[in-house]
This record gives sequence, C-alpha cells and structure tokens, in this order.
Amino acid sequence: MPKFHLSIPDYNLKEITAVTKAIKSGWISTAGPDVIKFEKFICKKVNAKYSVALNSGTSAIHLALSVAGVKRGDEVLVQSLTYVASINPILYLGANPIFFDVDNNFHLKIDDIYEFLKTQTVFKNKKCINKKTKKIIKALLVTHLWGNVQNIQKLRNICKVRNITIIEDAAESLGSKIKVGKKIINCGCQGNLGCYSFNGNKIITTGSGGAVVTKNKSFFKNINYLANQSKDDAFHDIHKKMGFNYKLNNLLSCLGIIQLKKLDNFIMRKKKIHDHYKKEFKNMDNLKLLMPLPNTLSNYWFNVVTFKNLDNISFKKLKLMCKENGIEIRQVWKPAHTQDYLKKFQQFKIYNSEKLYKKSVCLPSSLRLSKKNLKFVSRKIKNFCQINIKT
Ligand SMILES: Cc1ncc(COP(=O)(O)O)c(C=O)c1O
Repeated sequence: MPKFHLSIPDYNLKEITAVTKAIKSGWISTAGPDVIKFEKFICKKVNAKYSVALNSGTSAIHLALSVAGVKRGDEVLVQSLTYVASINPILYLGANPIFFDVDNNFHLKIDDIYEFLKTQTVFKNKKCINKKTKKIIKALLVTHLWGNVQNIQKLRNICKVRNITIIEDAAESLGSKIKVGKKIINCGCQGNLGCYSFNGNKIITTGSGGAVVTKNKSFFKNINYLANQSKDDAFHDIHKKMGFNYKLNNLLSCLGIIQLKKLDNFIMRKKKIHDHYKKEFKNMDNLKLLMPLPNTLSNYWFNVVTFKNLDNISFKKLKLMCKENGIEIRQVWKPAHTQDYLKKFQQFKIYNSEKLYKKSVCLPSSLRLSKKNLKFVSRKIKNFCQINIKT
C-alpha cells in the first residue's frame, strides 16, 4: 500500500455535517435545492454565466459535444495526450476524433490546429469540411492537463469563422486562471463550453461528479434538458427525444458546496507542494518539473516530472523503487492514438506525445503530504536519477 499518494480527498467534519443535514432533510435526489445552490456557486467561483452540475466529468464532455451539434459521422479535433474520458464521448456520439500533438509542457500544439484548419479544410455552406475525409468538423476539444491552463485565444477567431465550437476539458484545472490582456479568465471559460470533474482524485471532489459552464443560454438549457431524461412534460411523461440520467444529486451537491468553499485553500496548499518539488529539483539536469506557463495561475493539481534519457529498464527500476518506498507514481496519459481501439482515426503531425509518455510520471501531490513526506519523496527520486540516469 502506498504511503505517499498521488491525490486523495481532503474531507473533514464539515462534509459529514453537510451530508447528514441533507439526509435528515429528505432531499437526496437530483431534485434537491442544493443542486441549484452548487451550480450558482460554481458560476460565482469561475465567473461563468451558467453551469449545470452533472454526475461526472465524462458526462459533462458528452453533453457539451452533444449541444455543440456533434453527430454521427462528424469530426472533433483533439489532442492525443489526454485521458481517454476526453475521447470516448466523441465515440458515444458516433463521431470521429482527429488527433494532434502536444508540446513539452503537455499543451495542445495550437499552431498545428491552425495549420490544419488553414491547409486541410474547406469552408462551404457554413460548414468546415475536412478535405481528406469530406466530413464536417464540428468541435475542438482542448484539455488543460495537471492543473495547468493553456492559451487558446489564437484559435477563437478561426473556430468562430468556421463554425467550430471550442470545448475545454478543464476536468483537472478547476480554479486555474489565465491573464489575457487585462482580463483574468478562469480555466474552462476561454471557449464556448467548459467541463470540470469532481472525481475522487480531483482538486475538489464529490466522489464522482462534474459540471459544464457556458455563456450561451441555449447550450445551458439544452444540457439541463438532456441531463434530465429530456423531460418535456413531467406530469404526462412526455419525452420528445432521447435523454440521459446525468444530473448530480443533492447529497453530492452538498459535498460540492463545502469543497468549493475550500478551493482557494486547497490551491494554496497544492502550490506549497509544487514549490517544494521545484526547490528540490532545481539543479537537476536529468529531470524537468512541469511548470505553469507565464501569465497563468495553476491549481497545481498534480506534479509531473519528465526524465531525460529514461529507458525501459530504468523506468522499471523507478517503478520498483517507488513501490518499495510507498511512493505512488503514475505514468502520464497514454496518447490516445496509440490505444488499439483508437488507432484507426486520423492523426496530424504527432511526434512528441509518445516521447513524453515514455519518460514522464506524476508524483505524489496529495494535500496532506507533510514537508517531511515531500523531502523523503524528492530525495528518493533524486537519488534514483543520480544512480540510474545518464546526463
Ligand atoms: C482530463 C480528464 N478529462 C476527463 C475526465 C473525466 O472525468 P470523470 O472521471 O469525472 O468522468 C478526467 C478525470 O477523470 C480527466 O482527468
């Protein structure tokens, strides 16, 4: 059993009291008043106009794609190095992903998207058509990984002109921010729709849960409708189209409210963990700690290191060393275009994602790690590098 965890929940008496109160009130289902309260609080926290609380980040992405009009046979531009939960909802809708590369900071190569749209597509009858497949490109899905934020401003105009909806997968980056000109924008609010996850390991957690935020009223109404079984008339039980049971329930919304109140404190504590690793790894040539971009504020959800020259044998040794010392590490997301069931989809200039996957790991980043714990973990990693990795 690991002693030093990647990211475990941080609950106390406040969460227990809130859930107990909800149980005693009888409001436990999706119809309870705390669901709307939580949604309003999410809006306030990230400065969004509308939000819908859902039962997972995956359902948030599914419904965001759905209201963006993604249908069978359409295409969605997406980075390959992301969690599969970003990709699977594209397939739920019968659409196809087109995979792109990430840079050394795990950010989607924005210039590649731009080049692809300029050179590989045509715009006809208000539709952006892929010259190769003749299919319509309906959406761009950008994932902000490990708590960092990427700047997607350059794509806003070209996507607007070509009728492509920008969806942000901000599952890992709630509370992160970016400075654009004089404005501070919350992660998830740069594009047309933003998706968050409140899964057990996320910066705030309701056990499982998620949310979509948007400025667009019709997206908001549509998501609420679809998430609630597309109920047109509850009394007469009329449903004009297929819907889903995707809303977050009242019990979990109570947890969400308490957790969201703690978000700023969590980010401050996560930053201390990041600063500790930064100090410890400062002079190392064979290891690079992932840093937030300038003009951004990260929530520092996970700390990721990329090793220079980490071959298969030394990777195995690293895994073993960490296991023996109770240090929970995890390889970064396996690029989606290399997963068997996703290999068949179109790819554009992917050179970097696999290299990063082979030499990057996530380090323990749980809120309750003490200075002593962090010193132990970083010393072990440093010793490992000195012995096993050539500079
Ligand atoms: C990048 C990313 N996208 C989507 C998800 C899906 O969220 P959930 O697990 O809440 O469905 C996660 C987290 O699990 C994630 O890390």
